[in-house]
Amino acid sequence: MALEVRTARDEDREAMHHVGQQGFAARPADYDEKSDRSATPLDRRLVAVEGERIVGRLAVWELGQWFGGRQVPMGGIGGVAVAPDFRGKGVATALLHQVVAAMRERGEVLSTLYPMNHTLYRRHGWETAGSYPEQSLDLRALTALPKPSRQIDIRPTAEGDLLAVSRLHEDVSRDEPGNVFHGSVFAARRLLGYAGIQEGYVAETDGAVTGLLILTRSDAPKGDQGFYTLSINQLVAADLDSELALLRLVAAHYPVAREVTLVVPPHAALTTLLGERDLRPAGQGWSWMTRLVDAAGAVAARSYAAEVDVEVHLDIEDSVAPWNAGPHVLRVKDGQGLLEPGGRGDVRLGIGRLASLYTGWAAPRRLARLGLLPGAGEQDLLGLDRTFSSRTPWSRDFF
Ligand SMILES: CC(C)(COP(=O)(O)OP(=O)(O)OC[C@H]1O[C@@H](n2cnc3c(N)ncnc32)[C@H](O)[C@@H]1OP(=O)(O)O)[C@@H](O)C(=O)NCCC(=O)NCCS
Repeated sequence: MALEVRTARDEDREAMHHVGQQGFAARPADYDEKSDRSATPLDRRLVAVEGERIVGRLAVWELGQWFGGRQVPMGGIGGVAVAPDFRGKGVATALLHQVVAAMRERGEVLSTLYPMNHTLYRRHGWETAGSYPEQSLDLRALTALPKPSRQIDIRPTAEGDLLAVSRLHEDVSRDEPGNVFHGSVFAARRLLGYAGIQEGYVAETDGAVTGLLILTRSDAPKGDQGFYTLSINQLVAADLDSELALLRLVAAHYPVAREVTLVVPPHAALTTLLGERDLRPAGQGWSWMTRLVDAAGAVAARSYAAEVDVEVHLDIEDSVAPWNAGPHVLRVKDGQGLLEPGGRGDVRLGIGRLASLYTGWAAPRRLARLGLLPGAGEQDLLGLDRTFSSRTPWSRDFF
């Protein structure tokens, strides 16, 4: 097999669409040029070509994630698909290896994705690193929420809202480890909702945008008394009144819709307002996996608690990105981190394991108890814990 992996071109659009449909669709949709042109830009898509035929594809969203209150540039991988008759021949492997190099060139020090297939990504250095806490909620419960204590105006999103909603999304995400930021205007457009598929609303307080809600309707499952169900793709609010105003809009769909799914971290306002186990885990069990594309760059890009003063000697295994591999010393002081080649290489770990520590998802002591951090002594575990521990990393943005 003479496989070539290259950046996508205009004439590849239709073939990429078909491979994507073969990968994910229950009922393959016809190619629609307009919708393809509104998807990720061509220079952020890779195709795998065998002879003349496109046999695999993937796309990268220009995103980032908040860690320690700083924006860390991240390539969000999506739409990895290989034609059924070419599976099991290393096509996805070739695409993933190339995309790691491409992201590094662009300064995307992290890569995150929502995996269908953990085995594939784990093998190439991604590891489970954060949660997507999807919950389902009986809409009737929302009708009992208190009213906002002041006037909040709600209206549909408009093109001109892009800057205001991006700023709002940044403000509410900054202190939430793992939350996504949008690294380009194109990526930020997701925040306005997709016309014809989603409904977008903003909340305004005295003329300023203080809340954003993106909703999608889908068919009610069999046995549900409603005509449709709702999912909330975005619910961000600068304050409780704006959040309550947006939730009233959602509640107003009751009883035609009976249920809504939404992403709610354990510390959200909603969990303090509802009771009777109205909010229940739901969804398809997604969590996200992260790879350190450039481990030194990733360590330097985030910030750390000011009082942390740590030195840990790591020995990193990374066969896909050799620039990350080998003995490295992790030093954290005065809120800054450095990962430099050299040192004793005491703690042996794969690049994926390091990603799961970096985001705050994995607890060093627990990993050690499971035998997953060979060589780590008590001081190393303490050092890694002080460096990376945080509230559970999570994301409300799915891509
Ligand atoms: C998942 C998918 C992209 C893999 O593509 P591929 O070209 O067959 O993958 P590769 O040949 O490079 O596989 C490399 C390794 O990944 C793992 N892997 C690949 N597909 C797998 C599967 N379906 N289940 C479990 N492991 C799998 C295996 O460890 C495999 O190594 P092996 O062949 O030595 O066992 C392809 O099966 C596909 O398009 N599936 C439908 C869409 C999808 O699930 N996309 C990923 C969603 S995020």
